[in-house]
Amino acid sequence: MERKFVVGGNWKMHRGTPSDAKMMLKKFLKLVKKIENVDIIIAPPFTAIPFTTEYVKKSKVKIGAQNMYFEKKGAYTGEISPVFLKEIGCEYTILGHSERRHIFNETDELINKKLKLALNMNLKPIVCIGELLEEREAGQTNEIIEKQFKGSFRDLKEEEITNIIIAYEPVWAIGTGKTATPEQAEEVHQHVRDLIKKTYSESVSKQIRIQYGGSIKPHNAEELFKQKNIDGGLVGGASLEAESFSEIIKSAEMLSK
Ligand code: PGA
Repeated sequence: MERKFVVGGNWKMHRGTPSDAKMMLKKFLKLVKKIENVDIIIAPPFTAIPFTTEYVKKSKVKIGAQNMYFEKKGAYTGEISPVFLKEIGCEYTILGHSERRHIFNETDELINKKLKLALNMNLKPIVCIGELLEEREAGQTNEIIEKQFKGSFRDLKEEEITNIIIAYEPVWAIGTGKTATPEQAEEVHQHVRDLIKKTYSESVSKQIRIQYGGSIKPHNAEELFKQKNIDGGLVGGASLEAESFSEIIKSAEMLSK
């Protein structure tokens, strides 16, 4: 089964107002108009989600959140329910981004709870995993990936795991300009696919899309996307501008033909 490329833009705490978002999207939607074979997702800050879902409505672009809480409703000051996200037209949510894990101390256990509710609500999760520089240097990459995979994806049924997009994002490559080499990335992607195969089955492992993330730019996207187990990317910095983000998407489109 052929996996369709999926490229997501994570705007982090940038472009958080409607006018900010419009500035980028106006140009971007024109640039990606002809894209046919790539799923495109943009995850703006919560404050720009209602505007962006409306603005991209007639295009192929889908909107995602960057986070959500694991309860539907209640006294959880400052948190966002997936119910609200669904209602304003959000289709995806990023979960367990390394900034959530390392700045806000999110654990695999917490991410697992969020993941289960997202799936339950039909909000498609993009779940991030990735090692720190010191873990890579200590030769612990595979071990860390396995631990995050087992913890974040705990007790998921086969029909649930197939609705997830996994993003492998080595923490040392995020926002640093240091991209993993295509070989380094492919090695981990292969490992993740093997883990899925071991936990579920070969056919499940072949269906799941695994994005790479960490300093993807127009000049390195093609080499990364050429790898057998890399099914697209999660892009931070380069997704903030229409030109760079559309170039990255076009690299994926070109390889799909
Ligand atoms: P970056 O961010 O492309 O700026 O490295 C990637 C991410 O955090 O998803």
